[in-house]
Amino acid sequence: MKWPQTVVLKEVGPRDGLQNEKTCIATEDKIAWINQLSRTGLTYIEVTSFVHPQWIPALADAEAVAKGIERVPGITYGALVPNQKGLAKALACDVDEVSIFISASETHNRKNINKSISESLPVLRDVAKEALAAGKSVRGYLSTVFGCPYEGAVSTDQVIRVAAALFDMGIGELSLGDTIGVANPAQVQRVLERILKHFPAERIALHFHDTRGMALANILVSLEQGITRFDAALGGLGGCPYAPGASGNVATDDVVHMFNGMGIHTGIDQEKLLAAARFIQSRLGRKLPSHTLCAAGEAIG
Ligand code: HMG
Ligand code: MG
Repeated sequence: MKWPQTVVLKEVGPRDGLQNEKTCIATEDKIAWINQLSRTGLTYIEVTSFVHPQWIPALADAEAVAKGIERVPGITYGALVPNQKGLAKALACDVDEVSIFISASETHNRKNINKSISESLPVLRDVAKEALAAGKSVRGYLSTVFGCPYEGAVSTDQVIRVAAALFDMGIGELSLGDTIGVANPAQVQRVLERILKHFPAERIALHFHDTRGMALANILVSLEQGITRFDAALGGLGGCPYAPGASGNVATDDVVHMFNGMGIHTGIDQEKLLAAARFIQSRLGRKLPSHTLCAAGEAIG
């Protein structure tokens, strides 16, 4: 097997991770943590989301976080944005990249953003247009690509249809979400073989939640399909509050460990990453699920 020499890991812990944590992290601790992440060699950090605070109370301090962090040159600081109202706030904070999001399944989309897919698309189109006009890059997320908590199986034709609509809005990259961690390697291979007939691998990222422990295996299969961009959350934080049973993203530190061992370059310093993981673990007061933290015998505190 010929592996790529380099991959890009996108840290989504401050957004996808913290959005679902029961413990509310103080704004200054979020800022301190993101500043630590900025010194690990990561080149992309999704710092927060500008959604309705009643829907995601844990990220109600989005503006204070986005304005309070140190911006290290060479790192792209992104944020999730659902609509024009969120975009106005994101632009006021001068984030580098705006991530728009939608689901491939109707029920999850409605539970998550209170609209049907066809109602959501024009909203996202306007957000993307305005963000691009403001000089920002736009990333797209497509959720429930491998299964929906409400509808079960999701058709790959539907995934391709919604993905095409997002690319048509001018997104630079599309992140395909296994929102509830139901994917298996054979399925990932099958789905990617179809998707990559329509879109280039360089513009596709994979976003695996590790609910059933399949994420690293799924990343490996994606790698074999030519994918080199993966989302992850430090320590395996998080989940999706509108996807019952969803647990955290694959742990960034586990992915870095795997790639380091395989000789694939990530540019990320594992020791600094673990120090940042220890910091957020101590603030949350619960043991995070990552294997590398566990192997390092980390205690909470
Ligand atoms: P809505 O209630 O339909 O909104 O919510 P609306 O447009 O009808 O407006 C209602 C009120 O909300 C108005 O205020 C608006 O101004 C206000 P009022 O006039 O009543 O005082 N409002 C806002 N306030 C703050 N920020 C905003 C905003 N927009 C409207 N941006 C909405 C629609 C999209 C806002 C809501 O459904 C929402 O915030 N949803 C977010 C859900 C979410 O964040 N889910 C998790 C992220 S997605 C995810 O985790 C999946 C992913 O990781 C990939 C994967 O794993 O698959 C990305
Ligand atoms: Mg997610």
